Amino acid sequence: MQTIVVESKEQGAEKIVELVREELEAGSLNVLGLATGSTMEPVYEKMVASDLDFTSVTAFNLDEYVGIPATHKNSYAYYMNHLLFNEKPFKETHIENGMAENLEEECVRYETLLKENPLDIQLLGIGENGHIAFNEPGTSPESVTHVVELTESTIAVNSQYFTEDETMPVTALTMGISSIMQAKKLIVAAFGEKKRAALEKLFAGEVSTEWPVTYLLDHPNVVVITDLKL
Ligand code: F6R
Repeated sequence: MQTIVVESKEQGAEKIVELVREELEAGSLNVLGLATGSTMEPVYEKMVASDLDFTSVTAFNLDEYVGIPATHKNSYAYYMNHLLFNEKPFKETHIENGMAENLEEECVRYETLLKENPLDIQLLGIGENGHIAFNEPGTSPESVTHVVELTESTIAVNSQYFTEDETMPVTALTMGISSIMQAKKLIVAAFGEKKRAALEKLFAGEVSTEWPVTYLLDHPNVVVITDLKL
């Protein structure tokens, strides 16, 4: 595991874009896994401002809420369209359909697509409770794309984005740990004190189901970018 310590989230975002650029220019980036959340906002801002050309790249997102359409401002589809895809065209973009009638079938469809398009790079943020994508504590390392009930911790953190008259979904679809671990390279970003506990668990070097981020210890090509000095 390689760790890059930066001074700020902005500098971290620049570093992530630089790593993506390296692979893109080397011709080794065909499939890019993307994440949402506040960590990734400056990353997409910098990608949009850059001269990077993603027209030969297929994108897959990690997760999506169940029950809100892509037109809802808090859906991850909306986030991606507005922060990145509307400005930077990709060859194809994929995100789980949280409005699917049969969610189990939707998960199988998504996982099949992932198998057909192996991820070259997967960008990851970390939840305060150590989740990666929406793989909450207790998730099996064997998990593939699945339906998940969000934990109290994740609901408390993410409810800040929903106004009082909106109900935050408590169910989501997410790539599993195994789906994520298939990526050739993982770029993990964690900025700010709220991520300290999760990063400490990762750097302690022991895999624990209670801290899904520690599963990444078993991956051969992980870059962690953080502004925390641990
Ligand atoms: C988002 C995702 C989540 C976030 C994590 C951190 O697609 O999969 O795991 O990366 O919750 O969120 P922020 O960046 O908002 O702190």
